[in-house]
Amino acid sequence: MEIQKEKTNPFTNIKHIIAVMSGKGGVGKSSVTSLMGVALNNKGYKVGILDADITGPSIPKVFGVNQKRAVGMENEIMPVKTASGIKIMSINLLIDQEDAPVVWRGPLIANMVKQFYTDVLWGDLEYLLIDLPPGTGDVPLTIMQSLEIDGIIVVSTPQDLAKLIVTKSINMAKMMGIPILGIIENMSYFQCPDCGKQHSVFGNSGIETIVKEMDIPLIGKIPIDPELTSLSDEGKIELYEKINYTFGEAFGIQIEKVIEAGKDENLCFQNV
Ligand SMILES: Nc1ncnc2c1ncn2[C@@H]1O[C@H](COP(=O)(O)OP(=O)(O)OP(=O)(O)O)[C@@H](O)[C@H]1O
Ligand SMILES: [Mg+2]
Ligand SMILES: [Zn+2]
Repeated sequence: MEIQKEKTNPFTNIKHIIAVMSGKGGVGKSSVTSLMGVALNNKGYKVGILDADITGPSIPKVFGVNQKRAVGMENEIMPVKTASGIKIMSINLLIDQEDAPVVWRGPLIANMVKQFYTDVLWGDLEYLLIDLPPGTGDVPLTIMQSLEIDGIIVVSTPQDLAKLIVTKSINMAKMMGIPILGIIENMSYFQCPDCGKQHSVFGNSGIETIVKEMDIPLIGKIPIDPELTSLSDEGKIELYEKINYTFGEAFGIQIEKVIEAGKDENLCFQNV
């Protein structure tokens, strides 16, 4: 059964939607979504980030944005721009966390995310990145079913790779028929300032073998970097200069491919 895909408003024109998912929370999904947005924006693309993690929103925080959005006459919602011009929408920009219901019901959350897609006046975007809620529950499922997603990026850490939590996410995306652009292993290693070596703090995950078995690309490995943590805490993730190093080495080549694929309307990430 084909589920009806949601349509955007006449003032929105989005070329490509990429969703970022993870098997469990706290692996760096929001960080990767944000850094990807910054990397694409730095390359001159028009980028939006939709924070679909309604119960744990963190996109406005890492960008240091707390201004509330403007609501127009017809109830339309404007995204808020970050310092470098990325458009973001998050529950945090609509209501104060203290006002949020203690318990959100799944269908309510899914509907709100759909509205972030249909009602927000995104304007022209080349890339809309979606920070999905962690896991493979109803909300990510509904979003994958109802939005026209071009591709999925899976974020994992060496530990959850071992526990095969990642397999569940990948199988879900495959079931939905959404192309998996690849896996990013976050907190993969620590670049030691003393001896210069890369220490595998969480042990070697054997990700190379796993991606080969599953036949999906390994986009890259992102090291544990205390500077990333502190810039995120300060709301200054756009100032993370190692983005060119991290995303140059771990991500640069792949993101070029994603961009190339994005340029080709027909290809649409299928063969990235
Ligand atoms: N490579 C890294 N190096 C250092 N700190 C990191 C790295 N990746 C993420 N962090 C930090 O780890 C914490 C969790 O990251 P993040 O919020 O991106 O995870 P998440 O998967 O979105 O979590 P949640 O499930 O809560 O949404 C944050 O404080 C973030 O700054
Ligand atoms: Mg998050
Ligand atoms: Zn060392």
